[in-house]
Amino acid sequence: MQQTLSIIKPDAVKKGVIGKIVDRFESNRLRVAAMKKVRLSKCDAKAFYAVHSERPFFNDLVDFMVSGPVVVMVLEGENAVAKNRDLMGATNPKEAAPGTIRADFADSIDANAVHGSDSLENAKNEIAFFFATREIC
Ligand code: CMP
Repeated sequence: MQQTLSIIKPDAVKKGVIGKIVDRFESNRLRVAAMKKVRLSKCDAKAFYAVHSERPFFNDLVDFMVSGPVVVMVLEGENAVAKNRDLMGATNPKEAAPGTIRADFADSIDANAVHGSDSLENAKNEIAFFFATREIC
């Protein structure tokens, strides 16, 4: 069993597809162990994506992530980190395989509908960033 962090980004929340995205996870044996809707501050977004702080897209990424509410979740299941990334599809929706979340709901590499942890170690850090242990069931 693994846990991973998933974020439904502002574009997908604005489109009203929270339920459709959660269904992809639940239909593929990823259980929602914690969930909340939050509006990130600029400080939150910069800290969460600190690993990308030197990348040219960093400021646009931060501005996008604070442009509206997001839904953050802890997903739990067998091989959850890799399974979530398979379900999401490639970062750039133009390259995402048909039937993946980004192929179906994302518009661009910036507005790409979802974020998912890319390793078990990052999953632990990202989950701790958003959730106290008592909030995870
Ligand atoms: P995410 O999985 O949330 O991780 C970092 C985000 O930066 C990524 O999704 C994209 O939305 C955004 N981004 C914008 N441009 C790029 C790029 N060239 N390479 C990777 N990520 C990018």
